[in-house]
Amino acid sequence: MAARQPTPMVCVLGGTGFVGRSLSSLLVRRGYAVRIPTRNRQRNRRLLVLPGVDLRQTDIHDEFALEEVLRGCDAAINLVGILNERGHDGSGFKAAHVDLVEKLVKACQENGVTRLIHMSALKANHQRGPSHYLRTKGQAERLIKTLCGEEIRYTIFKPSVIFGSEDVFINRFATLLRRSPILPLARLDARFAPVFVEDVALAFATALADSDTYGKTYELCGPDIYSLGEIIELVRRDLGLKRLIMPLPGVLGRLQAAIADYLIPGKPFSLDNLRSMSVASVCSDGGLRQLGIAPRPMRHIVRGYLNP
Ligand SMILES: NC(=O)c1ccc[n+]([C@@H]2O[C@H](COP(=O)([O-])OP(=O)(O)OC[C@H]3O[C@@H](n4cnc5c(N)ncnc54)[C@H](OP(=O)(O)O)[C@@H]3O)[C@@H](O)[C@H]2O)c1
Repeated sequence: MAARQPTPMVCVLGGTGFVGRSLSSLLVRRGYAVRIPTRNRQRNRRLLVLPGVDLRQTDIHDEFALEEVLRGCDAAINLVGILNERGHDGSGFKAAHVDLVEKLVKACQENGVTRLIHMSALKANHQRGPSHYLRTKGQAERLIKTLCGEEIRYTIFKPSVIFGSEDVFINRFATLLRRSPILPLARLDARFAPVFVEDVALAFATALADSDTYGKTYELCGPDIYSLGEIIELVRRDLGLKRLIMPLPGVLGRLQAAIADYLIPGKPFSLDNLRSMSVASVCSDGGLRQLGIAPRPMRHIVRGYLNP
């Protein structure tokens, strides 16, 4: 009788988040054992219903703890990311996006983890990124490309905004529209190609098992391009609400972002977010199709979860 192959173990950093939950569930269905470090095991215990998930309370910024959590893993996936930092000088973004990646590559090398899949963001660029978010995401990409060497085979994904029933993006606008008759917003002309969270998860799971993706970077977009104004209008119609969506000109838009940035607890929006929106979040190539995945359009899926 042939010996049974051991179950491959994947460590998913950021596996408790919106994308991470979708991906972890897919990996389990595909027969992987999944280890997920988290800062708060109790808050994320619903992941324990997935068979084969090892949810560990760990501080991944601690190099020893990171090495410990990677021990025995065949691959690492990094989904850790923040949209806003506590302060305003970029150090929070650097810690979450850049310093962590440097520690992660080192920990992979120390533990013989030879496969790394990293989540960046569309238009991330270490020099030309207009915001701390996009610059630090770009710096992390550059670090991975220079540090991984021959030992670690990496793949990088750069998605546009991601939608799905548990997203922040669409659901936040739905909440705002439900609460207020008037919605004044900046940068309604900002462009996005929203990509479905399950397509993103599929891209990661496909890459994990495909050596052709080694050393490559893929942009991930949905099939349609929308302006922010069009997305909000679509949500408004799906909710069946009469609302006034009011474009805010430059200076008022910056004032609104500054108020949310400095005065509202939890920073629902920030000047850094506003700067990120100054570049069109649309793909220059079709990363999903290169992986054999047909991107699903947003319209019907969003309607399904706004009106379940
Ligand atoms: N959602 C989008 O539209 C979108 C678009 C483009 C790119 N991305 C990128 O995709 C990745 C996943 O996004 P997401 O929407 O799933 O994010 P999310 O829901 O906020 O999840 C991020 C996860 O990372 C962990 N995390 C966050 N900050 C951390 C920190 N300072 N130290 C350690 N762990 C931390 C959290 O885990 P614990 O709280 O359990 O520790 C959290 O579950 C991010 O890198 C994001 O930048 C997202």
